[in-house]
Amino acid sequence: MTRKTKLNPRRPLVAGNWKMHRTASDTRALIQDIVKRVERVANIDLVVCPPFTSLAAAHETLGRHSILALGAQTMHQAKEGAFTGEISGPMLREFGVRYVILGHSERRQYDNETNEKVAAKAIAAVGYHLRPIVCVGETLSQRESGDTEAVIDSQIHTSLAGFPPEQIEELVIAYEPVWAIGTGKVATPKQANDVHHQIRKLLVKLFGPKGADIRILYGGSVKPDNAVDLMSQPDIDGALVGGASLDARAFFDIIEAARPKRATDHD
Ligand code: 13P
Repeated sequence: MTRKTKLNPRRPLVAGNWKMHRTASDTRALIQDIVKRVERVANIDLVVCPPFTSLAAAHETLGRHSILALGAQTMHQAKEGAFTGEISGPMLREFGVRYVILGHSERRQYDNETNEKVAAKAIAAVGYHLRPIVCVGETLSQRESGDTEAVIDSQIHTSLAGFPPEQIEELVIAYEPVWAIGTGKVATPKQANDVHHQIRKLLVKLFGPKGADIRILYGGSVKPDNAVDLMSQPDIDGALVGGASLDARAFFDIIEAARPKRATDHD
């Protein structure tokens, strides 16, 4: 693993995206199980993103001073209004939510969450003190036709259009190749790192040298047995975990893989 300097702003981050899994009552047990395992874990940021209907139960179970932060899986950009079925930033804040996943490929595919909408949501999110986790990633056919770089370039540019440069410390990017999500087909560490490196260069172009400090997570079939190799890549700052985050033991093992091994590496 590349030696990272003290006070590196790229502190590792592992987030669990529960997707449409776990009722509110199931949520309590899973949160308790995760907390029990991660209580003593340091030098890493940890997030769980349950469904909206489980946020209250998760918030209550976590209490105020937990090591686990709460995230939502999407939000609407407006503060309130006639948007049936939607949830706004202030509504999320009331449940202690600190992060919000935006532009996940499942929402891009099934719910028309376009790059333009992601941009509006990301700007709104930081306005409500929510940290956006902006997802990008190519499909299998885009990769096979050699378009990965162009797709990522366009997603990053359009999804971050107008994002306030003074808020980039709040921003997190997740690279999730669509072909690796829920398929068991994981990107090789080199394939993932190459795209992360490209994204980092784009972020510097967009935001200047500080853009290099924005954390970039890998997502797509991250499991305990592939996490060590992925997390040791120099441009991978953590993971956005789907299926394996529903199993407290597996989630903990992935967290351990992402954690810096020297206590002094990250404060
Ligand atoms: P899996 O880890 O289940 O492949 O899901 C990845 C994902 O979509 C996380 O947002």
